[in-house]
Amino acid sequence: MVKDRPQLWVTRGGCAYDEPMPPDGEPTTPDPVWVGDIQIRMLDASESARLGDAVRAVYGDTYPVRWTYDAAEVARRIRAGLLISAVAEASDGTLLCHSGLSLASPNDVIGHAGQALTLPAARGRHIFTAVKRYLLDWVRSRGLVGMYSEATAAHPYSQRALLDLGGHETGFLLGFIPGSVDNGVSAPSHGRQSAALFFLRVRPGRERTVYAPNLHRDIVRRTIEICDFRARLAEAPDRSDLPPRSRFHVGTRAGDNVAILTVRQAGEDLTARVDSERSRLFSEGIDALYVDLPLDQPESAHVSESLEELELSYSGIFPNNQAAGDVLRMQCLRGATALSHDVVVASPHGAALLEYVLADMEAAGQALVRTGDRRLGVEGTDAPATSIPLVTTP
Ligand SMILES: CC(C)(COP(=O)(O)OP(=O)(O)OC[C@H]1O[C@@H](n2cnc3c(N)ncnc32)[C@H](O)[C@@H]1OP(=O)(O)O)[C@@H](O)C(=O)NCCC(=O)NCCS
Repeated sequence: MVKDRPQLWVTRGGCAYDEPMPPDGEPTTPDPVWVGDIQIRMLDASESARLGDAVRAVYGDTYPVRWTYDAAEVARRIRAGLLISAVAEASDGTLLCHSGLSLASPNDVIGHAGQALTLPAARGRHIFTAVKRYLLDWVRSRGLVGMYSEATAAHPYSQRALLDLGGHETGFLLGFIPGSVDNGVSAPSHGRQSAALFFLRVRPGRERTVYAPNLHRDIVRRTIEICDFRARLAEAPDRSDLPPRSRFHVGTRAGDNVAILTVRQAGEDLTARVDSERSRLFSEGIDALYVDLPLDQPESAHVSESLEELELSYSGIFPNNQAAGDVLRMQCLRGATALSHDVVVASPHGAALLEYVLADMEAAGQALVRTGDRRLGVEGTDAPATSIPLVTTP
């Protein structure tokens, strides 16, 4: 660890995940590349309205990430280095595909991928995979560690592209996407839709020690192994005294109608305060609460068990900027709302992880009724992707 480097890489939430490897000189825009007669390039701030146009062409007005419709906001983000926006165009300039990467600060070392869309006429030709590969080359050249994304589990296509590029599932966010979102690919949803959390690593991250609760140790270990994280899973010391008061941050994502409670320091009062925050959020109509526990703090290993008593269950592990590193995410859907999900996965690891997430949801006491046939096909076989329609009941 180089201690006296300039603090280029400190993000809003504190230290980021690794030392940066800023390139020499000013950030450069990579040259366009051609794949046959399709050009792939970065979108300039002056073209920001094209993102909203593409989103509208695919989702109508239903896309939950509302700033994408606001050309001025898109331009501001591109100009500030907080949005890296890659597109594919036909030779006449028609936009075929978009893939975005958001950063919490221009020097962030892990990006959050999103705004993945291919116009209907161009689908199924690996254009999205090619644009994503272009973005990945940029990520690599800038020295980032990788990118994570919440890929819809309403269909397998974006998951397949992420697997193709070397990504892996690290969790499932049940009920993460509003039922009103119409991606134009999957059948209309009868309730909220789910997402698979993916991590795509391009270079090793910082060596770090993480502590997982005993209950979830094996799945955390397997996820670390499959993603090849440089995280060493350590035994948490016997329960030590927690500080009396917890510190956490609650953020709501209005478009998704979900809340994320990021624990900065677990204290004696954590369970009671999560309980009261959840009551408040659910009474305001929020549909799902996700609680992120920092994996670098041994206290997290202890408190997650008491959170299960509140019917919060395992969702997965992934980076969270607010927590300055890896977190273990727990989830809880609003019990009073009947929600239905069609959860599609595209790899054997994803299928096993989804099973784990569903079983833990049941074990934690959240009602879960599985409906429909379970098909066990996975990518790489001729069988269809695994689909587990499920319904949570009040
Ligand atoms: C998801 C999406 C971006 C994929 O775009 P794409 O350019 O068609 O993707 P690719 O061609 O790179 O496909 C990736 C994989 O999905 C398959 N695929 C994509 N569309 C398909 C279709 N309609 N039918 C069958 N397979 C399809 C591809 O064949 C490929 O699989 P393979 O490697 O086994 O051949 C596009 O379907 C889309 O815009 N959907 C609506 C918005 C959306 O759901 N975005 C994702 C949010 S997470």
